Formats: sequence, structure tokens, C-alpha cells
Amino acid sequence: MTDQFSKKAEAWSARFTEPVSDLVKRYTASVFFDKRLAPFDIQGSLAHAEMLAAQGIISEQDRAEIERGMAQIKGEIEAGSFEWLLDLEDVHLNIEKRLTELVGDAGKRLHTGRSRNDQVATDIRLYVRAAIDDILGLLASLRGALLDLAERHADTIMPGFTHLQVAQPITFGHHMLAYVEMFGRDAERMQDARRRVNRLPLGAAALAGTTFPIDRLRVAKTLGFEDVCHNSLDAVSDRDFAIEFTAAASLIMMHVSRFSEELVMWMSPRIGFIDIADRFCTGSSIMPQKKNPDVPELARGKTGRVYGHLNGLLTLMKGQPLAYNKDNQEDKEPLFDTIDTVTDTLRIFADMAGGITVKAENMRAAALQGYATATDLADYLVKKGLPFRDAHEAVAHAVRACDIAKCDLSEMSLEKLREFSPLIEQDVFAVLTLEGSVAARDHVGGTAPNQVRAAIARVRKQLEA
Ligand code: ARG
Repeated sequence: MTDQFSKKAEAWSARFTEPVSDLVKRYTASVFFDKRLAPFDIQGSLAHAEMLAAQGIISEQDRAEIERGMAQIKGEIEAGSFEWLLDLEDVHLNIEKRLTELVGDAGKRLHTGRSRNDQVATDIRLYVRAAIDDILGLLASLRGALLDLAERHADTIMPGFTHLQVAQPITFGHHMLAYVEMFGRDAERMQDARRRVNRLPLGAAALAGTTFPIDRLRVAKTLGFEDVCHNSLDAVSDRDFAIEFTAAASLIMMHVSRFSEELVMWMSPRIGFIDIADRFCTGSSIMPQKKNPDVPELARGKTGRVYGHLNGLLTLMKGQPLAYNKDNQEDKEPLFDTIDTVTDTLRIFADMAGGITVKAENMRAAALQGYATATDLADYLVKKGLPFRDAHEAVAHAVRACDIAKCDLSEMSLEKLREFSPLIEQDVFAVLTLEGSVAARDHVGGTAPNQVRAAIARVRKQLEA
């Protein structure tokens, strides 16, 4: 227990005949971690006080006092001089107590028509909403960095893989655009989740609403919420919005993790497709030659903890009867850790993507292995009138012959190729080259360099809008 929390203060008073033990106090308190809700707690309280005064529930003078006190508290928290007390359990009671110390009775009137139950639900929604806005900005930066990389390599040929075996030639730009699409859907999901986060619980009070003539829409408007939560029991008790956010965050991490896996493989000297800037790598304490892709490896590893938080939150919710239960206090650490992990990861990746060096010769050499243009030869035969299945069979024979002769399809003589189909003529060599192969996939979503450029322009326009 840190000293800063150890000072005694009375949170509950009259109803209790004996104090709780220190262990129980520590067990039930959340101030260690919910302190970070403070700016949002203050924002919510100010909106609530403003409404109470507008409705004549508290005086204008009380409201002014509350504002003055909150401004000071904000300053103390920012300066690190605010004294957080374990005895005051959570961020809400700590701030309210200090407010009363500063402004007296006005501070005691703030909690009129409100409960910590609707207060905390409001704070978390404000916190998650801000996190979503951050994440949307970071996803846009990452997509921007990937677009730049894709543009530099719209013509750079690499092998495309299925089953981790060379399948067909693609461009590195096209490969990067696949991630641009994934992170684009991640942004859509976050935007969609934001709509359901952005509703006001305040006014639900403990669970049933309040007897005071409150104006919930006014508070919603002040806090920038699109609407109010329409059922008080639901408003204080459900955390589906936090689960939905964590699910969307898990999908971001899943995409980051797939990308990481590729970066790690591509950086392996055995593959040697890319290099990652030194500032994202570390060395080995024993092997002087090593430069390890720590950042992508850690991101791949951290994906697990975000998935864990999703599972934790789902499980936290599943057994709870209506309405609020203290279980819900356990929503914060997984949520905060999810937000920290995702925002740090995206921030680093947006920066790292710009520091990826492509080793185009190695990519090209790899694309020349594994008969990457075999499908092109089959398509060529189809265009000359052969049914696709027969073309597939003819090329399979040609590939087998190449395997024995240890050469690529493009290195076979025309005479030799014609043994597999008399339809093959001199023009076949145009389709057997890597450049011919990628350029021929010239339709929306295809790997042809001009399609890659068109796709980049399309996404750039979306990002600017
Ligand atoms: N610290 C609590 C939480 O995080 C605040 C709400 C407490 N409400 C209550 N009735 N105990 O959920």
C-alpha cells in the first residue's frame, strides 16, 4: 500500500457500526486504477451541476461554487498534488470529498439526483468515446503510412502465398493494401461501436431514476452524447458497449498480429524480404550479430492479452442480475489495458511502417521459384480455346517436367513447351514473366500495378473526406 492512499477518511458514516478491515478496504477500493477517470468524472459533474441549477434544483451560486472547486481540483490532479485516499474508495468519492472541503455545502449538493452507479457508467462512456476517437486517428495514420509504402512499391514484385507456398506473383503494394482494407474495416467497426457508446446513463441514478425534475437531454447535449439511455436499469448495469469496444479492439490486434507475423518472417535472414528500422529492433545480450524484430513480436504477443480482456469482460457480465452490481467495478482494468495496448501498438506501427525497407531483388528471386506463373500458362491455353480443366492438366505436366529439368516454366524452350500443348506459341513468354503475370490481373481488387495505384487513390480520398 502506497503512503499516499493511507490517510484515514470516513466514506460511509452512520449506517455502519464497525470499520471495514484494511484488507477489505483494499479489496473493494478502485481508486488505484479509476483515478484515470478523473477528468471525465469532473466533466460529468459539471454538466450535472449545470442542469441542476438550470432546473432550479440547486442555486446558481452553488453551481458557481462547484465550478470553482472543480477547477481547483483539476489543477491539483494535473499537478500531481491531489491527495488520493484509499478510505474514499474510488475516484468519485475522492473528488466529491475534496470538493466539499473546498466549497462546503455546495459540494454536498452535487450528488442530488445522482448515484455513483449512473456517474461511473457516464465516466466510462466518456472515457471509451475519447479512446475511440484516438484510435480512429491512429488507424488513419497507420493506413496513411501503409498507403505510402504501397505507392513506393506498386510495381515491386513478390511471391504471393497460399499455404505458405509460392502461389502467384503479386506486388508488394498490393500486399500492403490488403492491410489497408483490414484496418479500414476496423475503423468502421470502431465508428459503429461509438454510436452505442455515445448515450447518456446519467439520470438513471441508482437504478430507478430520480424524484427530482431533471433534464437528461440537457446533460446529454452538454456532454456531446447523441441520446440518453432509455431505461434506467439498463443504463446503470450493462457494459455491452465496453465489450463491443474490446471486441473491435481485439480485431484490430488480430490484424496487427497477422501483419507482425509476416514482418517477423520477412525479416528473417532465411527470407530476407524486408528490413525494419533499427529503432524498432533490439539486439541479443549474447549473440552480437542479432537484430531482432521485437516490436512486431511483442505486438503479436500483446494480442493475447486483449483477447483475454474480451473474454474477461464477457464473463464479468454474464451472471449479473439487474441492475448494478459491484462486479462492474472489474470492468475498468481490462478496459484501460485494452485501450493502452491498442493505442500504443497502433502508434508504434504507424511509425514503423514508414521505416520498412523492401529488398526487391530477394522478393523477385523468390517469386521466380515455385512456378508462380503456372496459372498464367493455364489461362493462356484457355484463351486459345482449351477448356480450363484440360489446361490445368497440361500445365501440371509441364511443371513436372520443369521439376525434373530444374528450370522455371519461362526457361523452357518453345519446342519443349509445345509437347504439353500444340496451342502454345511464341507469345507465351509474355505471360510467363512475372511482370506480365501481375499486369494481366487488371480489374478492381487485382494486383496489377495500375489497379494498385487506383486503389491507393481511392483510399486516400476516403481518408481526406
Ligand atoms: N467504483 C464503482 C465502480 O467502479 C463505482 C460505483 C459504485 N456503486 C456502488 N453502489 N457501490 O463501479
